[in-house]
Amino acid sequence: MSYRNDVNHSKLLAWVDEMTQLLKPDNVHWVDGSVEENDLMTDRLVKGGTFKKLNEEKHPGSYAAFSDPSDVARVEDRTYICSRRKEDAGPTNNWEDPGKMKKTLKGLYDGAMKGRTMYVIPFSMGPIGSDIAEIGIQLTDSEYVVVNMRIMTRMGREVIDVLGEKGDFVKAVHSVGAPLEPGQKDVSWPCNPDTKYIVHYPEEKLIQSYGSGYGGNALLGKKCFALRIASTMARDNGWLAEHMLILGVESPEGEKTYVAAAFPSACGKTNFAMLIPPKEMDGWKVTTIGDDIAWIKPGEDGKLYAINPEAGFFGVAPGTNNKTNPNAMASISKNTIFTNCAVTDDGEVWWEEKSKEPPANLTDWQGNRYDPSSGKPAAHPNARFTAPASQCPSIDPAWEDPKGVPISAFIFGGRRATAVPLVYQAFNWNFGVYLAATMGSEMTAAAFGQMGKVRRDPFAQLPFAGYHMGDYINHWLQLGRIIKNPPRVFGVNWFRKDENGKFAWPGFGDNMRVLRWIVERVSGKGFAVESPLGWMPRYEDLDWRGLDFSEEDFNKVMDIDTEVWKQELLGHEELFSKLYNKLPKEVFFMRELLVSGLWRSPEHWSLAPERPPVNDQM
Ligand code: GTP
Ligand code: SPV
Ligand code: MN
Repeated sequence: MSYRNDVNHSKLLAWVDEMTQLLKPDNVHWVDGSVEENDLMTDRLVKGGTFKKLNEEKHPGSYAAFSDPSDVARVEDRTYICSRRKEDAGPTNNWEDPGKMKKTLKGLYDGAMKGRTMYVIPFSMGPIGSDIAEIGIQLTDSEYVVVNMRIMTRMGREVIDVLGEKGDFVKAVHSVGAPLEPGQKDVSWPCNPDTKYIVHYPEEKLIQSYGSGYGGNALLGKKCFALRIASTMARDNGWLAEHMLILGVESPEGEKTYVAAAFPSACGKTNFAMLIPPKEMDGWKVTTIGDDIAWIKPGEDGKLYAINPEAGFFGVAPGTNNKTNPNAMASISKNTIFTNCAVTDDGEVWWEEKSKEPPANLTDWQGNRYDPSSGKPAAHPNARFTAPASQCPSIDPAWEDPKGVPISAFIFGGRRATAVPLVYQAFNWNFGVYLAATMGSEMTAAAFGQMGKVRRDPFAQLPFAGYHMGDYINHWLQLGRIIKNPPRVFGVNWFRKDENGKFAWPGFGDNMRVLRWIVERVSGKGFAVESPLGWMPRYEDLDWRGLDFSEEDFNKVMDIDTEVWKQELLGHEELFSKLYNKLPKEVFFMRELLVSGLWRSPEHWSLAPERPPVNDQM
């Protein structure tokens, strides 16, 4: 299938030809995005054993896929930012000389698609043709990638029409790195278990991915383009490309406030974006604009406006159920791809905590009969669903509005068993930037690495910033200087644990109690007292209707332990010494202010009610 002859973009054609010669696929297929084409792809995937058709009654139009055990998450240690100068990538990114790296990839790409079809995928991040959208062309030898990209982006021939003869596009090359000899039988999840590269050349807007077929490694519109490449475009042009969800909050009075929140991978963005308030909080409503990535630009009125550049959710399955996230459950009720979940004999998917007990006759993600007594999970901890955002019941009417939605607050939150309180508000924009820049979080299964280890994850962007993290922090400070009425900045932590190692905060829908306080602070209605970290609510400042959570419980999750914070500051210091040569001076002064606040004795900042609360702003 090809509409190549109708394409008039000579640079695009030349690039596709050049890559075809190098990759040597048996066929080239220009992806048109049609239903017929998608049926053809799914058919191939089912026949090839990559896809298992699920029970049509329980999961209409849905499939399960199982990856190679070596290919289950992002590979941060194989991810490179190959800017011309090493210092532009910075110490938190892997770097290699672009010329050298291209040579390596050229060697790997030579003949890499033999025995396979190369798909040319035109895709748009953001609504097709909108001012704020950006176009990419991904070449891939994976049908699994094609069908996932169809859900995650706006993909197909229409994008070529928008590109015209000269339109700008990001070049994205992807190969699973598993060529087939004539007659060689394919495996169900082709990948290269030994060699993987996820490479970005920001100055050229070029992405090269090799060896993996999984998630962010392979769906190049997502982390590679919409975060790593886009963040450098954003730096150059005065906007932001962030690892953030976007949601709308409607008060019982009908007042609407939009907020964007950055949590690291597998730390609750999808959950928060689709939050359903406790029923006792009558009249409060949350709508979803996006669950992973936000492009944020100053509008003509000087305010910040955000769009979701994606069209689907690639969300963590384990932990998702009708209690924790009913909107996600509804979103994945049909037309969904489940990767690395467990499956029952009658074609129903399952993962940890989907229900209390695992169903009988379950096959785990590796194809073995599941034995609950083994202590091993049935689904991989980074098992994910790919589902169209349009299927989400809480999707906001403005989610595809090219103008974006006006952002009134930024929220930053990591996964921290200790140290960080449930919620606090930065004293001002600069303190907010400091809190975001120094955010720490325990590592999750979303990337290969040391699970549970606390690492600094500035802006939840550590694995996703396409340039030097010191410049990143400075870019945020600069933006604060030019925008009118900058959004208020908040820190949250849903993951504080008690002395028994149990989560001390109920989380999920109950996060609405914190969100309500946040939007009320924004509108000047919410009360707070001063703490060393910023403004904090007292017990009586949160809405507790329908939840049995005592003041004592509250004080535990809000506690700021001076000794623990002295350690925390050493963690900040470690990051700063890495970024030293590019770190804006404000950061050092703010750290000193933070230390001086912590040195005041606790009774001076306790949440005790005798402290006069304030509701004025900054
Ligand atoms: P990426 O897609 O990797 O960027 O992650 P994400 O931030 O969208 O993560 P997601 O919302 O899918 O959450 C991942 C895990 O966090 C799941 O196991 C959830 O059950 C858990 N989680 C989400 N919200 C909460 C919460 O409020 N409290 C607790 N304890 N766990 C939560
Ligand atoms: C993340 O790891 O932050 C994700 C999943 O959103 S992936 O697209 O695989 O990077
Ligand atoms: Mn993510």
